[in-house]
Amino acid sequence: MSSKLLEGKKGIIFGALDNSSIAWKVAEKANHHGAKFVLTNAPVALRMGEINKLAEETGAEVIPADATNMEELESLFTKSREILGGKLDFVLHSIGMSVNVRKGKHYTELNYDWLEKGWDVSAVSFHKVMQTAWNLDSMSDWGSIVGLTYMAAQRTFPDYNDMADNKAYLESIARSFGYHWGVRNKVRVNTISQSPTQTTAGSGVKGFDGFIKFADKMSPLGNATAEDCADYVITLFSDLTRKVTLQNLYHDGGFSNMGVSDAIMAQFMNNEKE
Ligand SMILES: NC(=O)c1ccc[n+]([C@@H]2O[C@H](COP(=O)([O-])OP(=O)(O)OC[C@H]3O[C@@H](n4cnc5c(N)ncnc54)[C@H](O)[C@@H]3O)[C@@H](O)[C@H]2O)c1
Repeated sequence: MSSKLLEGKKGIIFGALDNSSIAWKVAEKANHHGAKFVLTNAPVALRMGEINKLAEETGAEVIPADATNMEELESLFTKSREILGGKLDFVLHSIGMSVNVRKGKHYTELNYDWLEKGWDVSAVSFHKVMQTAWNLDSMSDWGSIVGLTYMAAQRTFPDYNDMADNKAYLESIARSFGYHWGVRNKVRVNTISQSPTQTTAGSGVKGFDGFIKFADKMSPLGNATAEDCADYVITLFSDLTRKVTLQNLYHDGGFSNMGVSDAIMAQFMNNEKE
């Protein structure tokens, strides 16, 4: 695509860890589409050093911030405005982590300290990011804020564990805060509900390899990749979607509206014959 959908736009991209991250692909595409932005991640994630390659490739500066820490967020938004020379047109929240998932705790035996940590990182941080931007009046009118989510917020996927509840909370924050943003600044807030995707966060879920194949066979268009997702994010940052807000937008090759597919049925029919 040759047109530059984000020419002149400025933003902050949270969550690029390595080149499989959805946020990484968004940064590459936002750069391609003419945007200027700051990259940020938790200090511990930055120690891996990978993000510096992306910063070099896209001409972005990197500012560390733990998205659960209000002081670090304040400093991030203040510095970003100075670096970019004005208010922001877009923010991507591409953050998720569950300690219970990481440590293999079953949903019926959750550790509540870990639950609180994961909830703060995966869901409340979206509110913290928006509240910081709100208080500092960081967003330009008609800006766009996007968070990433998964369909386990609506339907049961047992191994997604407490992340399902975190995603339900995240999606609700998008609607609740999105109302206020819309009224005050015409800023829109949406979540994208993405197909299972081979990334560090995704692969941490038990049984992920089987599940990603299942979702692919179930979806008429196949799974959406991280690159596909980045394309969709770019449209939401562009002026082509100015009246889309308070939505949870499925980006999953049709998976969310399927009952069963021929490809899945074929496996059961074959098994029956065996
Ligand atoms: N991969 C999938 O299957 C899938 C599907 C649907 C939605 N999502 C969502 O997409 C988003 C991005 O995940 P991804 O799949 O690209 O994986 P990823 O592991 O590349 O990205 C997750 C990011 O969250 C960051 N993070 C964790 N704790 C943080 C903190 N305290 N402060 C700031 N950043 C922090 C990590 O450093 C990492 O960069 C997440 O919200 C995830 O839940 C992923």
